[in-house]
Amino acid sequence: MRRNRKTEWARRMVRETRMTADDLIWPVFVLEGDKERQAVASMPGVERLSIDLLVDEVGVAVDLGIPAVAVFPYTDPALKTPEAAEAYNPENLVCRAVRAVKAAHPNMGVICDVALDPYNSNGHDGIVQDGVILNDETNEALCRQAVVQAEAGCDINAPSDMMDGRIGEIRQALDNAGQQDVQIMSYAAKYASAFYGPFRDAVGSGGALKGDKKTYQMDPANTDEALREVALDIAEGADLLMVKPGLPYLDIIRRIKDSFATPTFAYNVSGEYAMLKAAAANGWLDYDSVMMESLLAFKRAGADGIFTYAAREAAKLLKTG
Ligand code: PBG
Repeated sequence: MRRNRKTEWARRMVRETRMTADDLIWPVFVLEGDKERQAVASMPGVERLSIDLLVDEVGVAVDLGIPAVAVFPYTDPALKTPEAAEAYNPENLVCRAVRAVKAAHPNMGVICDVALDPYNSNGHDGIVQDGVILNDETNEALCRQAVVQAEAGCDINAPSDMMDGRIGEIRQALDNAGQQDVQIMSYAAKYASAFYGPFRDAVGSGGALKGDKKTYQMDPANTDEALREVALDIAEGADLLMVKPGLPYLDIIRRIKDSFATPTFAYNVSGEYAMLKAAAANGWLDYDSVMMESLLAFKRAGADGIFTYAAREAAKLLKTG
């Protein structure tokens, strides 16, 4: 076996998996203001940016060949209510950010999360009544949210809320609003994971969250259930699929890819990013090496692309070697 590994050129000849900048999607956090830049303590190297700076930083991603960004808002706590109505305000922070990014970088794909948690005073992805997450009432709000995002110019709506039936309803709402070209990337297999902790800091929803998300996000013990979720979402009109979290769930990516042969993305989530950064800061791991190895593992597992906070770092390394 070692003959095929004897030199760099020989290894390159037999390499089965390759990663390029096309595989990388960069999630970004936007906040109000002008020339504002705030570090996210639990995610070293990640910042919340005001729209003007976001537009500049997305320009760097364009130059690196990254195909798309996913925009997440840090919402003023004063705007959070139990109805989460700010989610479908056409002038909300996300919609303004999308308009600005698309105006400056028309060839950059823009993805918007569809879920109520950044706007909900209780931190949940759905509308809560007497401690219960209401499914159909939430879907109505999600449809309105998806439509304002589409009208602001987003290219892909990415429902991350895990309500039942929302893909079909959002597809119908987009079509009715004349937005038939907007793609839907369904977070089809999204698990109730503790790896989202740093993200909830970044968008400011962690402190607000009452209870957990186990009645809508999946049980980490299950894989057959992921296939049923995906089958339903494809039938309802999902164009693209998402598995989340990433690294601890590579088996789910592989099963979905093999079963459905549909574009499948993985989210290398905030906790996964924070782990590598923390170990590197202690001098315990070589960051660039473990980061690139992790991203390649997603490709090997069958992912067509990876949402990762390391997208720009990885794209730079792919350029310079
Ligand atoms: C919200 C949402 C979450 C993430 C993306 N969209 C958090 C959650 O479900 O609580 C997590 C991303 C990350 O951890 O990097 N619906």
